[in-house]
Amino acid sequence: MTDFTFCSSTKFVFARGACDRTGAEVAAAGYKSALVVYGQGSVVRTGTLQRVLDSLDAAGVAHVELAGVRPNPGVDLVRTGIDVAREHGCDLILGVGGGSVIDTAKAIAIGVPYAGDVWDLFMGAAKPVAEGKPDVASVLTIPAAGSESSASCVITNDELQLKRGLSSELHRPTIAIMDPELTFTLPAYQTAAGVTDMIAHVMERFFSSVGPVPVTDNIACAIVRALIDEAPVALANPEDYDARANIMWAGTLAHNDLAGLGRSVNPGGRAGGWESHGLEHELSGHDPSITHGAGLAVIFPAWLRYVWREHPERILSFGRGVFGIEPVNAEEDGVDVTPEEAVADAAAATIDELQEFFVSTGMPRTLGELGVTEEMVEELLPTLERNKGAVFGDFKRLTLDDARQIYLSAL
Ligand code: NZQ
Ligand code: ZN
Repeated sequence: MTDFTFCSSTKFVFARGACDRTGAEVAAAGYKSALVVYGQGSVVRTGTLQRVLDSLDAAGVAHVELAGVRPNPGVDLVRTGIDVAREHGCDLILGVGGGSVIDTAKAIAIGVPYAGDVWDLFMGAAKPVAEGKPDVASVLTIPAAGSESSASCVITNDELQLKRGLSSELHRPTIAIMDPELTFTLPAYQTAAGVTDMIAHVMERFFSSVGPVPVTDNIACAIVRALIDEAPVALANPEDYDARANIMWAGTLAHNDLAGLGRSVNPGGRAGGWESHGLEHELSGHDPSITHGAGLAVIFPAWLRYVWREHPERILSFGRGVFGIEPVNAEEDGVDVTPEEAVADAAAATIDELQEFFVSTGMPRTLGELGVTEEMVEELLPTLERNKGAVFGDFKRLTLDDARQIYLSAL
């Protein structure tokens, strides 16, 4: 078990109707003026936005709005939001939506006190500063990215075709309003993509080069098991409160770092090499119509098939903890397989089960289903190199040729 420092400083308000308490929570925390950021219309149609605005009014919190955040959000709207937040002297950027909206809110917050172009912060050319920075809070409407309490923020620069993440404690949200009823309106595809993303967040940490950490490994497997149980319930009955609530909380636990503690190679760093996320971000960065979770549903199994042999005990542990899969024992089970074949069979069965689960929820099996072609794979590699370097990852160090093989195997 490796050393860690863990601080999950977000206040979670998790309840039926929590949405109507947004203003009271914001005012109690001392905020006076909020920039309310939202997406392309769902929160208007569902009435969520109006409820949030009413609660801000009732609590005497001034507000101004920024609409139109698209999935896989772009930096252009972030720049607009920075101008608006400065003009109105906002001390809070309040995202009402999912990962795309909350990440936009985070980028606006760190951009406000920075004199240069906010994209510099994503390129590592400058560091975010605390002085003069508004805080971030969220009203979560889609459980998926875990941005409501994560230190991460992912933004795309369309001009440069770069989708980049930036981790900073400075934009970790101070308040997360979590009202599972807000997720009743989610389309099945977004529900399934969200669940896939959560499972991927757990697995990125689980499949690190660090050996077993039983307490963390058990937490990880429990989150994945709960998601595999609850997702079909929510898909069959979108208004099942308990299924929606369990999925929502699982999404937070999957990504607030709890599920990776003690598994980090670099003390203080995040567990795992985030290889599948790196490979997926190229897909949704090049084509923002690709849903992040749907890309992961294809990439994660393909990556696992390519790399599991580096640390076979990890895939065995995952298969056992999530699906109850054990390698056969030639002597006890009276079968004619070598121990190596038994391990390979158990690994393959585990990855197959995982992929079948994703597909059963409506997620794609192949990159072809997402419109990715062999030619496009070649276009992804140069930006992958710019984002991750020529060699990246932790479980197995991947070259660009490895990346090509993984993409091609998933076509
Ligand atoms: O734009 P609107 O109209 O609001 O529609 C959204 C959007 O089309 C819709 N939606 C959200 N809540 C809804 C709803 N529709 C009906 N009812 C509701 N209650 O869902 C669609 C997807 O929303 P989005 O915010 O894009 O989804 P998600 O939360 O999956 O966020 C994806 C983004 O987060 C990044 C991804 O790369 C992607 O850019 N990530 C952020 C992370 C982080 N900050 O920690 C980590 C993740 O690994 C991920 O990379
Ligand atoms: Zn993700």
